[in-house]
Amino acid sequence: MFSTTQKIGILGGGQLGKMLALAAANWDFKIYSLDPTPNAPASAVSAGFTVGDFKDYDQVMAFGADKDLISIEIEHVNTDALRALEQMGKKVHPSPAALDIIKDKGLQKQFYQEKGIPTARFELFEDEKALKKAISSGAWTLPLVQKTRTAGYDGKGVAILRTLEDLETKLLPGPCLAETLAPIQAEIAVVAARNERDEVAVFPAVEMDFHPEANLVEFLICPARIPALVEAQAEALAEQVIRAFNVCGLLAVEMFWTRDGQILVNEVAPRPHNSGHHTIDSAHTSQFEQHLRGICNLPLGSTVSKTPVAIMLNLLGEPGHKGPVQYAGVDECLALEGVNIHLYGKSQTSPFRKMGHVTITGNTPDEAIEKANFVKKYLKVVSS
Ligand SMILES: Nc1ncnc2c1ncn2[C@@H]1O[C@H](COP(=O)(O)OP(=O)(O)O)[C@@H](O)[C@H]1O
Ligand SMILES: [Mg+2]
Repeated sequence: MFSTTQKIGILGGGQLGKMLALAAANWDFKIYSLDPTPNAPASAVSAGFTVGDFKDYDQVMAFGADKDLISIEIEHVNTDALRALEQMGKKVHPSPAALDIIKDKGLQKQFYQEKGIPTARFELFEDEKALKKAISSGAWTLPLVQKTRTAGYDGKGVAILRTLEDLETKLLPGPCLAETLAPIQAEIAVVAARNERDEVAVFPAVEMDFHPEANLVEFLICPARIPALVEAQAEALAEQVIRAFNVCGLLAVEMFWTRDGQILVNEVAPRPHNSGHHTIDSAHTSQFEQHLRGICNLPLGSTVSKTPVAIMLNLLGEPGHKGPVQYAGVDECLALEGVNIHLYGKSQTSPFRKMGHVTITGNTPDEAIEKANFVKKYLKVVSS
């Protein structure tokens, strides 16, 4: 029997939580969100919204007490509380054990090494001074990529060090890891899903283009423009990775396809991911519905695309604009066929803040790219 009475608690109430709650509403599932920001995006569409800190043990315990199933939309949550809730008989997906590994990029890289999952060569360092020493002793040579072990996101904990001057200006403080700089031919992502019956499904690989200044994905195209064999390898690798982590729900796997033909796992996220947003408009099952299917142990949905090409554009706050948000060019873009605008409902914009996204579907890459360029040119997030 299909019951819609269970209470699903989500730690985090940002745009991912909002879109998860919208998908849940289609099945009359009730989503309750926990987020420190009172008017966070998910607050508008959740059955219940608690203002609180998902990093705090007591607050997560109090939030989880009357829920049947707890999941996340951000990985930096209190996993001790999740473990305790699990022991009380609540369902918790993804598992606290997997979250603990994923939250720390150092443990994540060690996990890939242990499981034989291809990833860029790396070494952990106590702090930036130890890394500097390793460079001056010749143990590591420039260029290299430095990553802070915890709390990095959207490129904020990543420094690409190319010159001795970069060592003075770009080095990030604290426990970190060094990684070899991969010769990237394309950055791709595969969103995988798993349920308690151990079924796994993967969405087609997407190709990510990064904003040079903001280090954010600003343009994503599905299917990725890579050879079929590479696509098949990437999808098989995503399946291997989700089985290794043993998580239920989604696992987005970011990868590099290198110029020498390797596929390396960069990092993963055990939740809905930017690289799956287009699925709302372009696939038989959206990533958000797929996450619900995974965590509720329902059959996984078809990951097949309904349109030949989909492009996702992040709507970032325009540089130079800070304050109450306004959107320019919406009318012009809504007039186009195959353009779907998603606004997250954040009241304040700031430079490069993720304020929404647009999906552009088309019959050919060229057609979709042309429309995407139009949207990019006209649709702007500004302050009033
Ligand atoms: N080893 C690497 N070689 C080359 N580029 C890298 C490497 N690691 C990270 N990058 C670049 O930095 C971006 C952000 O790094 P990532 O580890 O994904 O951090 P974040 O958590 O901020 O997404 C990647 O998408 C990629 O463009
Ligand atoms: Mg990343």
